[in-house]
Amino acid sequence: MQAMMSLFDKKLSPRNLYAYMNAGSALSEQYRTVRTNLLFALDKHKRYSLAVTSPEKGDGKSVTCTNLAISLAQQGCKVLLIDADMRNPSLHTLFNVKNTTGLSNVLNKTCRIEEAIQNTPVGRLDLLPSGPLPYNPTELADSQAMENLISLALEEYNLVLFDTPAINQYSDAKILANQCDQLIMVIKSGKTAAEKAVKAKKSLSEAKAEFLGIILNQR
Ligand SMILES: Nc1ncnc2c1ncn2[C@@H]1O[C@H](COP(=O)(O)OP(=O)(O)O)[C@@H](O)[C@H]1O
Ligand SMILES: [Mg+2]
Repeated sequence: MQAMMSLFDKKLSPRNLYAYMNAGSALSEQYRTVRTNLLFALDKHKRYSLAVTSPEKGDGKSVTCTNLAISLAQQGCKVLLIDADMRNPSLHTLFNVKNTTGLSNVLNKTCRIEEAIQNTPVGRLDLLPSGPLPYNPTELADSQAMENLISLALEEYNLVLFDTPAINQYSDAKILANQCDQLIMVIKSGKTAAEKAVKAKKSLSEAKAEFLGIILNQR
């Protein structure tokens, strides 16, 4: 227990990793409910790539995605969490790890995926941080290299979870939704205007990914 506590302090940003820090809290329970609903919707014998997105910046994509990843890993699922918000990455900060190599390096082929993946203090959860900001994030998201990365990751992990940029801001999220099997949209309670949510949902309608549902954040 002592060792766990010092790990909390050194490795994690305590404010945001509720599901790990505070397994007994009401919020953790909410993440577990989302996890249960998600697992009901998926076939437990299959492996999935899943994009988490939202209409705008600040809706809670990164926090939701991280806590969902933790919650699923705690349930026994082997999860790779990928920071695909290359313009505004935050997962390396949440997990307090370096972002010197990551997704952008793997996609532009300056390093291999296994060199860029980092272990986290949460068993069964690994992290691929965004890496340095590339000059062409949209093209990288839309590349054959991204398709290859997802296939390779799915050989190792049950779930590959993508944190993405806001839908109404860049086309990256739409592109990622087209690369992934499943899609979840986060809406911020009291903030996301109905027409923005509708616009976001509409722009995702042609993507390949199956729309699993909406998570209402900060209700
Ligand atoms: N459920 C929540 N409870 C408390 N704070 C939250 C919650 N969801 C998000 N936040 C806070 O809101 C801010 C934006 O969240 P973030 O996940 O970074 O948004 P996005 O990734 O969509 O830009 C962060 O400071 C985060 O800590
Ligand atoms: Mg974010």
